[in-house]
Amino acid sequence: MSQEILVVYPGSFDPPTNGHLDIIERSSKLFLKIVVAVADNCNKRHTFSLKERLQLLQESTKSLKNVKVTSFSGLLADYLEQINSFVLIRGLRAISDFEYEFQMALMNRNLNKKIETVFLMPDQAYTFLSSGMVKEIAMFGGNVSSLVPKCVGEKLKKRFCEHIKK
Ligand code: PNS
Repeated sequence: MSQEILVVYPGSFDPPTNGHLDIIERSSKLFLKIVVAVADNCNKRHTFSLKERLQLLQESTKSLKNVKVTSFSGLLADYLEQINSFVLIRGLRAISDFEYEFQMALMNRNLNKKIETVFLMPDQAYTFLSSGMVKEIAMFGGNVSSLVPKCVGEKLKKRFCEHIKK
């Protein structure tokens, strides 16, 4: 019964990493329909545009038939209401994630008491992986091929090579 609900995995995905993909794959085995919702947040400066982040996620999840990639702007709680969902998925890597995630889960519940957040742990290989770290490694010419989907690796290479050439 509960597996039939629409679940939303929100995030910045700037860019998507193998850690994000691990959470998406785990969710796709647990739930029938997953919406990966890319935040169009004008308060944050992103390396990749919304369009690029959507394309990268679409390409990386194309084999997962119950996963849809889309974007949202404004409050996540309002977006959930619009699409008639009340379950969020978030990844928890290490204890350091806990405070931020706890605050976000409780704030979303404060905005709408129906909202539940389900936390999934990625494979331990991704415990210390973050989009920020991946960008820093790529920026200094390091190899990120084991950390991100192929299309993301290519995009990072292009972005930072162009940046270096300028
Ligand atoms: O990948 P991130 O950056 O940790 O994702 C954070 C995100 C986008 C899920 C969060 O910032 C968010 O929900 N933003 C939308 C605005 C909102 O609803 N803010 C209040 C959440 S407590």
